[in-house]
Amino acid sequence: MLLLLPPLLLSASPAGASGTVNPCCYFPCQHKGVCVRVGTEGYECDCTRTGYFGVNCTFPEFWMRIRAALKPSPAFYHFILTHFRWFWDIINSTFLRDTLMRLVLTIRANLIPSPPTYNSAHGYISWESYVNLSYFTRILPPVPEDCPTPSGTKGPAQLPDARLVAERFLLRKTFQPDPQGSNLMFAFFAQHFTHQFFKTSGKMGHGFTRALGHGVDLGNIYGDNLERQNELRLFQDGKLKYQLVNGEMYPPRVLEAPVHMIYPKRVPPEQQRAVGQEVFGLLPGLMMYATLWLREHNRVCDVLKGEHPTWGDEQLFQTARLILIGETIKIVIEDYVQHLSGYHLQLKFDPELIFGVQFQYQNRISVEFNQLYHWHPLMPDFFIIQDQEYSYEQFVYNTTMLTDYGVEALVEAFSKQQAGQIGGGQNINKNLLKVAIGVIEESRLLRLQPFNEYRKRFNMVPYTSFQELTGDEEMAAELQKLYGDIDAMEFYPGLLVEKTQPNSIFGESMVEIGAPFSLKGLLGNPICSPEYWKPSTFGGATGFEMVNTATLQKLVCLNVKRCPYVAFRVPDSGDVAAMATSHSSREKEPSAEL
Ligand SMILES: *[C@@H]1O[C@H](CO)[C@@H](O)[C@H](O)[C@H]1NC(C)=O
Ligand SMILES: *[C@@H]1O[C@H](CO)[C@@H](O)[C@H](O)[C@H]1NC(C)=O
Ligand SMILES: *[C@@H]1O[C@H](CO)[C@@H](O)[C@H](O)[C@H]1NC(C)=O
Ligand SMILES: *[C@@H]1O[C@H](CO)[C@@H](O)[C@H](O)[C@H]1NC(C)=O
Repeated sequence: MLLLLPPLLLSASPAGASGTVNPCCYFPCQHKGVCVRVGTEGYECDCTRTGYFGVNCTFPEFWMRIRAALKPSPAFYHFILTHFRWFWDIINSTFLRDTLMRLVLTIRANLIPSPPTYNSAHGYISWESYVNLSYFTRILPPVPEDCPTPSGTKGPAQLPDARLVAERFLLRKTFQPDPQGSNLMFAFFAQHFTHQFFKTSGKMGHGFTRALGHGVDLGNIYGDNLERQNELRLFQDGKLKYQLVNGEMYPPRVLEAPVHMIYPKRVPPEQQRAVGQEVFGLLPGLMMYATLWLREHNRVCDVLKGEHPTWGDEQLFQTARLILIGETIKIVIEDYVQHLSGYHLQLKFDPELIFGVQFQYQNRISVEFNQLYHWHPLMPDFFIIQDQEYSYEQFVYNTTMLTDYGVEALVEAFSKQQAGQIGGGQNINKNLLKVAIGVIEESRLLRLQPFNEYRKRFNMVPYTSFQELTGDEEMAAELQKLYGDIDAMEFYPGLLVEKTQPNSIFGESMVEIGAPFSLKGLLGNPICSPEYWKPSTFGGATGFEMVNTATLQKLVCLNVKRCPYVAFRVPDSGDVAAMATSHSSREKEPSAEL
């Protein structure tokens, strides 16, 4: 329903240079209504299919009134899903597991527009933003350029210095471990996995991506373009190039697979390893995952070749890639998201669950998802491998550590070391603070709407005070001083300083905003569509079985000689206590901090 607001109503508002303020700067349209400027001073809210009507889409239609009255809050669902273990133990083994999983998938994924809507250059529906894949998409349009303040109309004319915000609210004072027990195996998985679709284009600038697959395409393993892929391929039995070190398979040197990799000058080419993602030389944890997936690819090729001796290199390669995509999605849903959610409902990767409901098999990565996924608080203050403590200086771009210790030892070390809590504020190691500053600066450049507008977009009630947001008086008082108004609070800092849910890794907003992007991206993959999701796509029953039974544990243990402790969480308390004692003896040694 389109309604015109008489310009008179707006005349009392703070005026820009021209005497009138763009009315969309007030974000007047509620319940996902779309704001359009009309005439010189007016606006319309398009409330079509929102279930609401009125000038600002504030009045519920009859059925919406009933639904809104009956619908429990996200906090309520979360509480149920993370409590009453006995209840979920029963649900897990009944048809209700499927029903609830279908509900989780559809309710979450429905929050993501598909086909996508805006981008950073187009705050309205346009053909260009649909068709030009170089843009990250946007869930909410940018704050209009001509608004009185960067947050629209609220808050200061100039936002507080990004470095100041980061130092005061995000910088770690003392390491806060994640109460859900996440470990570095989890942290490096997150980093390795997400860097296939978060690849901001240095050349085209913020708001643009180089990962044109916009989802789980394993560009982090195979490269984000055909030229790179071809350099990484062996062109024999479908396999990827590799080198043998101590009789074990590792990614090839850039001398053998000449692709661009980012390394500091001090690292000579014979020490540079070539993998799909150019930044993975940065951390041994990333190169460790790259090695595991390389071995998995070549292992799957052997299995496929055994079953299909007539197949050529190309078909073996392509089919292995689809199997690895399936394995990745399986592991992400049933190991990674299962752990992260803390849900007692046993999650299930089964595309058939949603064959009966409306769902678009496509995905576009958004600026907001990219911003939100900067989970640097996960990173510890140092890295412990076989009782040896390594500083960032020793760890970063360390090209020998992976082969010095081997994959098993690193898996075991990373699986036993606690990661930091993401939410709650003040938990980013000083070596990584510049990343957070960069995120805040990018969000300003791209004119992201305030945190509270995203709360509303994802069906949450906007916060009314900084105290309510943080649950911490001191932080709240300082935020109030810097931002002046809770409606001016920024997206990324908002997510990180939000009070965490009890015993949880982060707060409500990270879950409610992150989960829809995540599940839409995973189930929106073409392999999940009815035409693809069948054994023949994966080379037959064996390949399909590999997808349907993939676990983190198998990814590791089918590709190493000795199966180590491997999980996304640290071992149970008995083992942790044992580790703590062995750790305290190490504290006497001087640590080489940067
Ligand atoms: C609609 O929103 C604008 C801007 O927030 C406000 O000034 C106006 O009073 C609202 N109108 C109605 C009818 O709610
Ligand atoms: C996408 O948009 C950017 C910015 O306008 C432009 O440089 C680029 O060529 C476009 N890409 C395509 C494929 O049209
Ligand atoms: C139900 O699922 C949870 C989460 O995966 C798991 O911890 C629990 O053991 C399961 N219970 C049964 C009976 O399968
Ligand atoms: C890299 O790690 C190894 C242990 O695997 C260590 O001996 C070496 O000193 C580290 N390199 C640097 C430059 O710190």
